[in-house]
Amino acid sequence: MSQYFSLAIGCGSQNRDDQWLEAFFPNPLLHPDADLVSSIADEVDYQGGNFSVELNHRQVAKVAREWREAGFEREASYAIALQESSRPVVLVILASDEAPQSTPEAYLKLHLLSHRLVKPNSINLSGMYALLPNVAWTNEGAIDLDELAEHQLMARLDGRILSVNSVDKFPKMTDYVVPEGVRIADSARVRLGAYIGDGTTIMHEGFCNFNAGTEGPGMIEGRISAGVFVGKGSDIGGGASTMGTLSGGGNIVISLGENCLLGANSGTGIPLGDRCTIESGLYITAGTKVEVLDDQGNSVETVKARQLASQHDLLFRRNSQSGRVECLTNKSATQLNEDLHKHN
Ligand SMILES: CC(C)(COP(=O)(O)OP(=O)(O)OC[C@H]1O[C@@H](n2cnc3c(N)ncnc32)[C@H](O)[C@@H]1OP(=O)(O)O)[C@@H](O)C(=O)NCCC(=O)NCCS
Repeated sequence: MSQYFSLAIGCGSQNRDDQWLEAFFPNPLLHPDADLVSSIADEVDYQGGNFSVELNHRQVAKVAREWREAGFEREASYAIALQESSRPVVLVILASDEAPQSTPEAYLKLHLLSHRLVKPNSINLSGMYALLPNVAWTNEGAIDLDELAEHQLMARLDGRILSVNSVDKFPKMTDYVVPEGVRIADSARVRLGAYIGDGTTIMHEGFCNFNAGTEGPGMIEGRISAGVFVGKGSDIGGGASTMGTLSGGGNIVISLGENCLLGANSGTGIPLGDRCTIESGLYITAGTKVEVLDDQGNSVETVKARQLASQHDLLFRRNSQSGRVECLTNKSATQLNEDLHKHN
């Protein structure tokens, strides 16, 4: 394996103080060939460690030439394209997976996730929020919020309307990469840094945060919170929720195994194993008291839901007569998921 963690060359946007607002990397590399680094180290003054640098036109041309001569055609072709950039060009070399130290480094890590080069929860994103400025994402690109009013006025004077699509630290993923084999009905609902697996459909009501996602195939009509990963063949029904760990005190990282179903408007605050179903409208939290039933419907024991975390073949429902939350063996999960595959 390469001695380096990642390398990418791209272009981005800066504010008037030359601070980065965002960066776009068309071809991020995981564990790049060491020669990609050594062939340009002198030119970009790379001394080792994790490093990001803005390159001038002459340096970009030199990097392109060095890579071509070293036989890295694909990487060279991206560098050649960047020679024409009217936007600042940036090179990031990550010797190791440390906490990011700059905006371009943080963006590279988000790209690695959305390009499916790394899985959610597998890389170090500590301190990332402080490195991601809150930005106006407009039809004319990223604009610093302090400079927005002036840009809006200038656009109007020019007979144009500057449309602000969102004000956020994260842009939408599809403006940076559209991974193969996905359908995303409303692209604004998937942030850069989401990992959307092959065969995933995200309907209008679905949402996927950064450092979260699906293995695919799957059907997502509810929310995938930061840190949550959804296994193959699982279905998150309309308005369903997976509990996040970013706010509200929850600290269990939620995941769903394969062939699970979160019914419409249901939710989970515990990780689920394979072939689990939560009845429509039922929200299971870690402390929810659950009556475990045997195959005859007799009560076996009462447990807190966290004790059932990650177990397979469970069906959770709220008894519509007694109001208690029950857990049974899930007998219909396979059937549900055959349907899912057929329609995906
Ligand atoms: C929980 C769920 C999976 C159960 O469905 P199911 O396994 O097909 O079960 P059934 O509806 O056939 O019910 C089986 C039995 O359990 C009973 N039952 C079902 N839900 C019950 C409840 N909440 N309380 C008490 N009894 C219940 C039924 O009356 C039936 O009883 P019977 O054997 O005496 O006839 C289903 O109700 C559900 O919520 N599906 C989610 C679908 C969804 O939201 N998809 C996403 C769309 S966006």
